[in-house]
Amino acid sequence: MLMMDDIIRDGHPTLRKVAQEVSMPPSEEDKEILRSLMEYVKNSQNEEIASKYGLRPGIGLAAPQINVSKRMIAVNLLDEKGTQISYALFNPKIVSHSVEKAYLTSGEGCLSVDENIPGYVPRFARITVKGVTLDGEEVKLRLKGLPAICFQHEIDHLNGIMFYDYIDKHDPFKPIEGAIAIER
Ligand code: NI
Repeated sequence: MLMMDDIIRDGHPTLRKVAQEVSMPPSEEDKEILRSLMEYVKNSQNEEIASKYGLRPGIGLAAPQINVSKRMIAVNLLDEKGTQISYALFNPKIVSHSVEKAYLTSGEGCLSVDENIPGYVPRFARITVKGVTLDGEEVKLRLKGLPAICFQHEIDHLNGIMFYDYIDKHDPFKPIEGAIAIER
């Protein structure tokens, strides 16, 4: 079971690396890593488990954040309709995206960043993601709203990109023209 101490923090070089593709079919070891990512995210959202083990809550986690530079992410959250969006994916890839942008009015956070970094993070409003599940099934997901933002944040971790890279340093809350404002 992953703990906060297993999550590397900002400044660690792995967070800035481009992670490697996972070879298919995935090894049992890679599957175990991906399962552990999802387990952390779910545990962190369970108040009892989170407080018992001191887990900071998160809605997504990427393998580089536990110092494994391989392309795997886990996302577990509710969309605006209250539908559970839960995916553990190998080699997730954004295959298309909208021109329209979106951002969270509250900004973004990251389990690898201990401090709050305020500011708007421009994202694509809608994305299509392809990836492979733990069962080896290829999926194609069409996402918008918070799920789209979360997937972009996690996939960025596979490319060595941190959310604050996108924040305007001189004017963090500069309005993003034409973008959809998403309240969390
Ligand atoms: Ni993050």
